[in-house]
Amino acid sequence: MADLAGRTALVTGASRGIGRSIAQRLAAEGALVAVHYGTNDDAARKTVAAIHRSGGRAFPLRAELGVDGDVDTLFAALETELQDRPLDILVNNAAVIDYGASIHAATPKSYERVFAINVRAPLFITQRALRLMPDGGRIINISSGVTWFATPEIVYAMTKGALNVFGRSLAHTVGTRGITVNTVSPGITETDMNDWLRSAEATRHVATMTALARPGRPADIGDVVAFLASDDARWITGQTIEVNGGLLLGPVPAQSATTEVPAH
Ligand SMILES: NC(=O)c1ccc[n+]([C@@H]2O[C@H](COP(=O)([O-])OP(=O)(O)OC[C@H]3O[C@@H](n4cnc5c(N)ncnc54)[C@H](OP(=O)(O)O)[C@@H]3O)[C@@H](O)[C@H]2O)c1
Repeated sequence: MADLAGRTALVTGASRGIGRSIAQRLAAEGALVAVHYGTNDDAARKTVAAIHRSGGRAFPLRAELGVDGDVDTLFAALETELQDRPLDILVNNAAVIDYGASIHAATPKSYERVFAINVRAPLFITQRALRLMPDGGRIINISSGVTWFATPEIVYAMTKGALNVFGRSLAHTVGTRGITVNTVSPGITETDMNDWLRSAEATRHVATMTALARPGRPADIGDVVAFLASDDARWITGQTIEVNGGLLLGPVPAQSATTEVPAH
Protein backbone atom coordinates (compact mmCIF):
# COMPACT_ATOMS: atom_id res chain seq x y z
CA MET A 1 0.00 0.00 0.00
CA ALA A 2 1.22 3.50 -0.83
CA ASP A 3 -0.59 5.38 2.00
CA LEU A 4 -1.13 8.82 0.54
CA ALA A 5 -3.58 9.98 3.20
CA GLY A 6 -3.54 13.75 3.52
CA ARG A 7 -1.73 14.27 0.20
CA THR A 8 -3.04 16.13 -2.83
CA ALA A 9 -2.44 15.08 -6.43
CA LEU A 10 -2.95 16.50 -9.90
CA VAL A 11 -3.23 13.90 -12.66
CA THR A 12 -3.45 15.38 -16.14
CA GLY A 13 -5.56 13.50 -18.65
CA ALA A 14 -7.33 11.58 -15.92
CA SER A 15 -10.76 11.30 -17.51
CA ARG A 16 -9.92 8.14 -19.43
CA GLY A 17 -7.37 5.38 -19.93
CA ILE A 18 -4.13 5.31 -17.98
CA GLY A 19 -4.76 8.67 -16.30
CA ARG A 20 -8.11 7.46 -14.96
CA SER A 21 -6.45 4.42 -13.48
CA ILE A 22 -3.69 6.52 -11.90
CA ALA A 23 -6.28 8.87 -10.38
CA GLN A 24 -8.31 5.96 -9.01
CA ARG A 25 -5.28 4.31 -7.44
CA LEU A 26 -3.94 7.53 -5.86
CA ALA A 27 -7.41 8.24 -4.47
CA ALA A 28 -7.68 4.67 -3.16
CA GLU A 29 -4.46 5.35 -1.23
CA GLY A 30 -6.06 8.39 0.39
CA ALA A 31 -4.97 11.31 -1.81
CA LEU A 32 -7.33 14.10 -2.82
CA VAL A 33 -7.09 13.95 -6.62
CA ALA A 34 -7.61 16.66 -9.23
CA VAL A 35 -8.98 14.78 -12.24
CA HIS A 36 -7.79 16.95 -15.09
CA TYR A 37 -9.14 16.56 -18.64
CA GLY A 38 -9.50 18.48 -21.89
CA THR A 39 -13.02 18.28 -23.31
CA ASN A 40 -14.74 15.02 -22.34
CA ASP A 41 -16.95 16.15 -19.43
CA ASP A 42 -18.81 12.87 -19.34
CA ALA A 43 -15.66 10.75 -18.98
CA ALA A 44 -14.27 13.03 -16.26
CA ARG A 45 -17.57 12.84 -14.37
CA LYS A 46 -17.42 9.05 -14.54
CA THR A 47 -13.88 8.99 -13.15
CA VAL A 48 -14.77 11.29 -10.27
CA ALA A 49 -17.97 9.35 -9.55
CA ALA A 50 -16.08 6.05 -9.48
CA ILE A 51 -13.60 7.51 -6.98
CA HIS A 52 -16.41 8.85 -4.79
CA ARG A 53 -18.22 5.49 -4.90
CA SER A 54 -15.06 3.82 -3.59
CA GLY A 55 -14.86 6.28 -0.71
CA GLY A 56 -12.11 8.44 -2.24
CA ARG A 57 -11.86 12.18 -2.76
CA ALA A 58 -11.56 13.83 -6.19
CA PHE A 59 -12.78 16.76 -8.23
CA PRO A 60 -12.85 17.38 -12.01
CA LEU A 61 -10.62 20.03 -13.59
CA ARG A 62 -11.29 21.02 -17.18
CA ALA A 63 -8.49 22.78 -19.09
CA GLU A 64 -7.67 22.05 -22.70
CA LEU A 65 -3.90 21.86 -23.13
CA GLY A 66 -2.02 23.06 -26.18
CA VAL A 67 -4.07 26.25 -26.51
CA ASP A 68 -3.26 29.81 -25.42
CA GLY A 69 -3.61 30.29 -21.67
CA ASP A 70 -3.93 26.55 -21.00
CA VAL A 71 -1.72 26.48 -17.91
CA ASP A 72 -3.34 29.63 -16.45
CA THR A 73 -6.78 28.06 -16.86
CA LEU A 74 -5.65 24.85 -15.19
CA PHE A 75 -3.99 26.51 -12.19
CA ALA A 76 -6.79 29.03 -11.63
CA ALA A 77 -9.20 26.11 -11.19
CA LEU A 78 -6.74 23.97 -9.24
CA GLU A 79 -5.85 26.68 -6.74
CA THR A 80 -9.51 27.47 -6.16
CA GLU A 81 -10.19 23.82 -5.33
CA LEU A 82 -7.08 23.33 -3.21
CA GLN A 83 -7.83 26.38 -1.05
CA ASP A 84 -4.21 27.02 0.02
CA ARG A 85 -3.37 23.35 0.45
CA PRO A 86 -0.04 22.34 -1.16
CA LEU A 87 0.19 20.11 -4.21
CA ASP A 88 2.14 17.02 -3.16
CA ILE A 89 2.00 14.91 -6.32
CA LEU A 90 1.99 15.88 -10.00
CA VAL A 91 1.45 13.28 -12.72
CA ASN A 92 2.03 14.61 -16.25
CA ASN A 93 -0.01 12.04 -18.15
CA ALA A 94 -2.16 13.85 -20.76
CA ALA A 95 -0.92 13.41 -24.32
CA VAL A 96 -2.10 12.86 -27.86
CA ILE A 97 -0.81 10.72 -30.68
CA ASP A 98 -1.22 11.85 -34.29
CA TYR A 99 -1.20 8.72 -36.42
CA GLY A 100 -0.79 10.93 -39.51
CA ALA A 101 2.36 12.65 -38.28
CA SER A 102 4.89 10.36 -39.96
CA ILE A 103 8.08 11.52 -41.66
CA HIS A 104 6.13 11.63 -44.94
CA ALA A 105 2.97 13.39 -43.79
CA ALA A 106 3.83 15.51 -40.71
CA THR A 107 3.16 19.23 -41.12
CA PRO A 108 4.35 22.20 -39.07
CA LYS A 109 0.79 22.40 -37.72
CA SER A 110 0.60 18.77 -36.61
CA TYR A 111 4.11 19.05 -35.14
CA GLU A 112 3.22 22.21 -33.17
CA ARG A 113 0.02 20.69 -31.81
CA VAL A 114 1.53 17.42 -30.58
CA PHE A 115 4.54 19.18 -29.05
CA ALA A 116 2.31 21.80 -27.41
CA ILE A 117 0.22 19.13 -25.65
CA ASN A 118 2.87 16.50 -24.97
CA VAL A 119 5.92 18.65 -24.14
CA ARG A 120 5.17 22.36 -23.70
CA ALA A 121 2.24 21.69 -21.36
CA PRO A 122 4.12 19.35 -18.97
CA LEU A 123 7.04 21.80 -18.82
CA PHE A 124 4.93 24.80 -17.85
CA ILE A 125 2.52 22.82 -15.67
CA THR A 126 5.54 21.61 -13.72
CA GLN A 127 6.95 25.13 -13.50
CA ARG A 128 3.71 26.30 -11.87
CA ALA A 129 3.26 23.16 -9.78
CA LEU A 130 6.68 23.61 -8.17
CA ARG A 131 5.41 26.82 -6.54
CA LEU A 132 2.67 24.83 -4.79
CA MET A 133 4.74 21.74 -4.05
CA PRO A 134 6.35 21.22 -0.64
CA ASP A 135 9.80 19.73 -0.22
CA GLY A 136 9.54 15.96 -0.60
CA GLY A 137 6.95 16.22 -3.37
CA ARG A 138 6.60 13.79 -6.25
CA ILE A 139 6.57 14.35 -10.01
CA ILE A 140 5.87 11.47 -12.37
CA ASN A 141 5.88 11.86 -16.14
CA ILE A 142 4.22 9.34 -18.45
CA SER A 143 6.40 8.66 -21.45
CA SER A 144 6.32 5.71 -23.85
CA GLY A 145 8.25 2.70 -25.06
CA VAL A 146 8.38 4.38 -28.47
CA THR A 147 11.46 6.17 -27.14
CA TRP A 148 13.37 2.90 -27.63
CA PHE A 149 11.38 0.95 -30.27
CA ALA A 150 10.63 2.49 -33.63
CA THR A 151 7.16 3.31 -34.96
CA PRO A 152 6.01 5.41 -37.93
CA GLU A 153 4.49 8.09 -35.64
CA ILE A 154 7.74 10.01 -35.53
CA VAL A 155 6.41 13.25 -34.05
CA TYR A 156 4.74 11.49 -31.11
CA ALA A 157 7.92 9.50 -30.46
CA MET A 158 10.00 12.69 -30.51
CA THR A 159 7.73 14.27 -27.88
CA LYS A 160 8.22 11.30 -25.59
CA GLY A 161 11.99 11.43 -26.07
CA ALA A 162 11.84 15.06 -25.00
CA LEU A 163 9.85 14.10 -21.92
CA ASN A 164 12.50 11.55 -20.89
CA VAL A 165 15.17 14.24 -21.08
CA PHE A 166 12.93 16.66 -19.21
CA GLY A 167 12.58 14.19 -16.34
CA ARG A 168 16.30 13.63 -15.86
CA SER A 169 17.13 17.32 -16.00
CA LEU A 170 14.30 18.23 -13.65
CA ALA A 171 15.26 15.52 -11.14
CA HIS A 172 18.77 16.96 -11.05
CA THR A 173 17.48 20.48 -10.40
CA VAL A 174 14.84 19.82 -7.73
CA GLY A 175 16.59 17.04 -5.84
CA THR A 176 17.90 19.47 -3.23
CA ARG A 177 14.28 20.02 -2.22
CA GLY A 178 13.76 16.29 -1.74
CA ILE A 179 11.39 16.25 -4.71
CA THR A 180 11.69 13.09 -6.80
CA VAL A 181 11.04 13.06 -10.54
CA ASN A 182 10.56 9.81 -12.40
CA THR A 183 9.31 8.72 -15.77
CA VAL A 184 6.99 5.79 -16.31
CA SER A 185 7.17 4.36 -19.79
CA PRO A 186 4.19 2.15 -20.66
CA GLY A 187 4.26 -0.42 -23.41
CA ILE A 188 1.21 -1.24 -25.52
CA THR A 189 -1.77 -0.62 -23.25
CA GLU A 190 -5.51 -1.04 -23.79
CA THR A 191 -6.93 2.51 -23.98
CA ASP A 192 -8.78 4.74 -26.44
CA MET A 193 -5.41 5.90 -27.78
CA ASN A 194 -4.91 2.34 -29.03
CA ASP A 195 -8.36 1.60 -30.41
CA TRP A 196 -6.67 -0.57 -33.07
CA LEU A 197 -5.96 -2.97 -30.19
CA ARG A 198 -9.65 -3.82 -29.77
CA SER A 199 -9.59 -6.65 -32.33
CA ALA A 200 -8.77 -10.15 -31.12
CA GLU A 201 -6.14 -10.44 -33.83
CA ALA A 202 -4.29 -7.30 -32.69
CA THR A 203 -4.42 -8.46 -29.08
CA ARG A 204 -2.93 -11.83 -30.09
CA HIS A 205 -0.22 -10.09 -32.08
CA VAL A 206 0.77 -7.87 -29.13
CA ALA A 207 0.79 -10.97 -26.90
CA THR A 208 3.42 -12.54 -29.16
CA MET A 209 5.62 -9.48 -28.65
CA THR A 210 5.29 -9.50 -24.86
CA ALA A 211 6.96 -11.86 -22.37
CA LEU A 212 3.88 -11.82 -20.09
CA ALA A 213 1.75 -12.60 -23.18
CA ARG A 214 -0.91 -9.88 -23.15
CA PRO A 215 -1.27 -6.15 -23.79
CA GLY A 216 -0.98 -3.82 -20.79
CA ARG A 217 -4.02 -2.64 -18.85
CA PRO A 218 -4.31 0.85 -17.36
CA ALA A 219 -4.10 -0.50 -13.79
CA ASP A 220 -0.70 -2.06 -14.61
CA ILE A 221 0.57 1.49 -15.00
CA GLY A 222 -1.46 3.13 -12.22
CA ASP A 223 -0.06 0.77 -9.61
CA VAL A 224 3.54 1.68 -10.47
CA VAL A 225 2.76 5.40 -10.40
CA ALA A 226 1.22 4.99 -6.93
CA PHE A 227 4.43 3.31 -5.74
CA LEU A 228 6.57 6.14 -7.13
CA ALA A 229 4.29 8.63 -5.37
CA SER A 230 4.72 6.84 -2.05
CA ASP A 231 7.33 7.21 0.70
CA ASP A 232 8.69 3.77 -0.24
CA ALA A 233 10.06 5.29 -3.49
CA ARG A 234 11.90 8.11 -1.69
CA TRP A 235 15.33 7.04 -3.02
CA ILE A 236 14.33 6.71 -6.67
CA THR A 237 14.75 9.79 -8.83
CA GLY A 238 15.76 10.67 -12.36
CA GLN A 239 14.81 7.20 -13.58
CA THR A 240 12.75 5.91 -16.46
CA ILE A 241 10.86 2.75 -15.58
CA GLU A 242 9.62 0.56 -18.42
CA VAL A 243 6.23 -0.87 -17.43
CA ASN A 244 5.38 -3.14 -20.33
CA GLY A 245 5.16 -6.83 -19.36
CA GLY A 246 8.49 -7.53 -21.07
CA LEU A 247 7.76 -5.97 -24.44
CA LEU A 248 10.14 -6.98 -27.25
CA LEU A 249 12.57 -8.76 -24.93
CA GLY A 250 13.16 -11.18 -27.76
CA PRO A 251 11.28 -13.70 -29.90
CA VAL A 252 8.52 -15.45 -27.91
CA PRO A 253 8.22 -19.21 -28.57
CA ALA A 254 4.95 -19.91 -30.42
CA GLN A 255 3.47 -22.23 -27.76
CA SER A 256 4.13 -19.90 -24.79
CA ALA A 257 2.57 -16.88 -26.54
CA THR A 258 -0.89 -18.23 -25.76
CA THR A 259 -0.33 -18.63 -22.00
CA GLU A 260 -1.43 -15.37 -20.46
CA VAL A 261 -0.17 -14.42 -17.02
CA PRO A 262 -3.27 -13.10 -15.23
CA ALA A 263 -3.32 -9.62 -13.72
CA HIS A 264 -4.16 -9.68 -10.01
N1 LIG B 1 -2.10 3.54 -24.44
C1 LIG B 1 -0.84 3.18 -24.66
O1 LIG B 1 -0.56 2.11 -25.21
C2 LIG B 1 0.29 4.07 -24.23
C3 LIG B 1 1.59 3.57 -24.41
C4 LIG B 1 2.66 4.34 -24.01
C5 LIG B 1 2.43 5.58 -23.44
N2 LIG B 1 1.16 6.04 -23.28
C6 LIG B 1 1.00 7.35 -22.65
O2 LIG B 1 0.11 7.22 -21.56
C7 LIG B 1 -0.57 8.46 -21.36
C8 LIG B 1 -2.07 8.22 -21.31
O3 LIG B 1 -2.44 7.63 -22.55
P1 LIG B 1 -3.86 6.92 -22.76
O4 LIG B 1 -3.62 5.81 -23.69
O5 LIG B 1 -4.50 6.66 -21.46
O6 LIG B 1 -4.64 8.07 -23.55
P2 LIG B 1 -6.21 8.28 -23.79
O7 LIG B 1 -6.98 7.08 -23.40
O8 LIG B 1 -6.30 8.78 -25.19
O9 LIG B 1 -6.57 9.47 -22.77
C9 LIG B 1 -5.98 10.71 -22.96
C10 LIG B 1 -6.27 11.62 -21.79
O10 LIG B 1 -5.57 12.86 -22.02
C11 LIG B 1 -6.51 13.93 -22.09
N3 LIG B 1 -6.10 14.86 -23.14
C12 LIG B 1 -5.78 14.58 -24.41
N4 LIG B 1 -5.53 15.71 -25.08
C13 LIG B 1 -5.71 16.72 -24.22
C14 LIG B 1 -5.63 18.14 -24.33
N5 LIG B 1 -5.31 18.75 -25.48
N6 LIG B 1 -5.88 18.87 -23.23
C15 LIG B 1 -6.21 18.28 -22.06
N7 LIG B 1 -6.33 16.96 -21.90
C16 LIG B 1 -6.08 16.18 -22.97
C17 LIG B 1 -7.84 13.28 -22.42
O11 LIG B 1 -8.90 14.15 -21.98
P3 LIG B 1 -10.39 14.09 -22.65
O12 LIG B 1 -11.02 12.84 -22.11
O13 LIG B 1 -11.04 15.33 -22.22
O14 LIG B 1 -10.16 14.02 -24.14
C18 LIG B 1 -7.73 11.98 -21.65
O15 LIG B 1 -8.02 12.19 -20.29
C19 LIG B 1 -0.12 9.37 -22.50
O16 LIG B 1 0.94 10.17 -22.05
C20 LIG B 1 0.37 8.40 -23.54
O17 LIG B 1 1.30 9.00 -24.41
C21 LIG B 1 0.08 5.31 -23.66
